[in-house]
Amino acid sequence: MAALDLRRGQVVGEIGSGPGYFTLRLARAVGPSGHVYAVDPEPGVLEALRARLVRARVRNVTPVLALGRDPVLPPGTCDLALIVNAYHHFDDGPALLRRVTRALTASGRVVSIDWDDRETPVGPPLGRRVPLERFLRDAGRAGLWRVSEHRFLPHHIFSSSGERNRRA
Ligand SMILES: C[S@@+](CC[C@H](N)C(=O)[O-])C[C@H]1O[C@@H](n2cnc3c(N)ncnc32)[C@H](O)[C@@H]1O
Repeated sequence: MAALDLRRGQVVGEIGSGPGYFTLRLARAVGPSGHVYAVDPEPGVLEALRARLVRARVRNVTPVLALGRDPVLPPGTCDLALIVNAYHHFDDGPALLRRVTRALTASGRVVSIDWDDRETPVGPPLGRRVPLERFLRDAGRAGLWRVSEHRFLPHHIFSSSGERNRRA
């Protein structure tokens, strides 16, 4: 969470939120003046997220039902689009990244944290993982440019990108 460098009042689009392990932490980081859109295509997962939000009395999260490759996020609103443990689940990552890019603010970033493409004691089979090079190629096709990578996690790579045409 610290590496995401979030500020109070910021807006986060969390793509593939699942039942909200990270969502609650993101909501806390941006505070009551900020907002989190928690996007997932599975209605049952969003129900579990909703119950978690009610229990925790969190009011700055909107669960969003993704429509296929469309995360249905409002354009130009997200300071951060976060994808954790999810990119390798997307059937058309480049198409989804293009939509995600449209949801970013001028200085917005996309952070994907996903399984490293090497043998690890836990995690999905190697054939299901997306190598960093492929993610960066997909991101490039979506108009994103590589900002940084962090390798402080034991089994995951943290990759940050911004919008290419707003580089200056
Ligand atoms: C392994 S879970 C990760 C959940 C959460 N990010 C975490 O790390 O705890 C992957 C999630 O991605 C979601 N997902 C799959 N395809 C998606 C898509 N096209 N758009 C958004 N989410 C998707 C799945 O429904 C699932 O909840």
